[in-house]
Amino acid sequence: MPVASKNKLLSNKNMLKEEKTLIIIKPDALQRNLLGEIIGRFEKKGLKITGIKMIQLEDALLMEHYSQHKDKPFFQSLKNFMKSSPVVVMILSGINAIKAVRLIVGPTKGYEADAGSIRGDLSISGQANIVHASDSLESAEVEIKRFFKPEDIFEYKKSDFEFVYGEEERSGPE
Ligand code: CMP
Repeated sequence: MPVASKNKLLSNKNMLKEEKTLIIIKPDALQRNLLGEIIGRFEKKGLKITGIKMIQLEDALLMEHYSQHKDKPFFQSLKNFMKSSPVVVMILSGINAIKAVRLIVGPTKGYEADAGSIRGDLSISGQANIVHASDSLESAEVEIKRFFKPEDIFEYKKSDFEFVYGEEERSGPE
């Protein structure tokens, strides 16, 4: 096989890596009875839930999680909102999960998000935007560690795996 074709195959294969991403289902979703709807959308996509729990967020964790927004005018109101009821934190796993989940969730502002996305269908707000989803592999790793102990993350085989992915995807990166 020519080197160029082999490299192409390798780089395609390297894209098929199972990733984990962190989701926070926010107080607005919980109060609006949307937990099942949201979890169902991720499940139907074929994503695997490898961690899930309900927690009450406090200032210290919010300061850490939203540190890049600490100087924004909405920071205090964001903290108040995120503490206003418990949230559900969840780890989703799947091949290219980070990109897939960001597309399902939609952009930050509900009123700008496309119909069909979670925010596009269920939110019209810039703040009460239903879910948080990690924006990169690096953030996902940090965020998962922030909210989950290793023993609360479950690696298991799911029986629909061979129908969710194609044969080449299932064989994973070389
Ligand atoms: P999230 O994806 O969790 O990342 C930062 C959060 O800040 C965002 O979702 C919103 O909940 C909130 N946020 C972003 N922009 C604004 C804004 N202009 N006013 C209020 N809240 C905002």
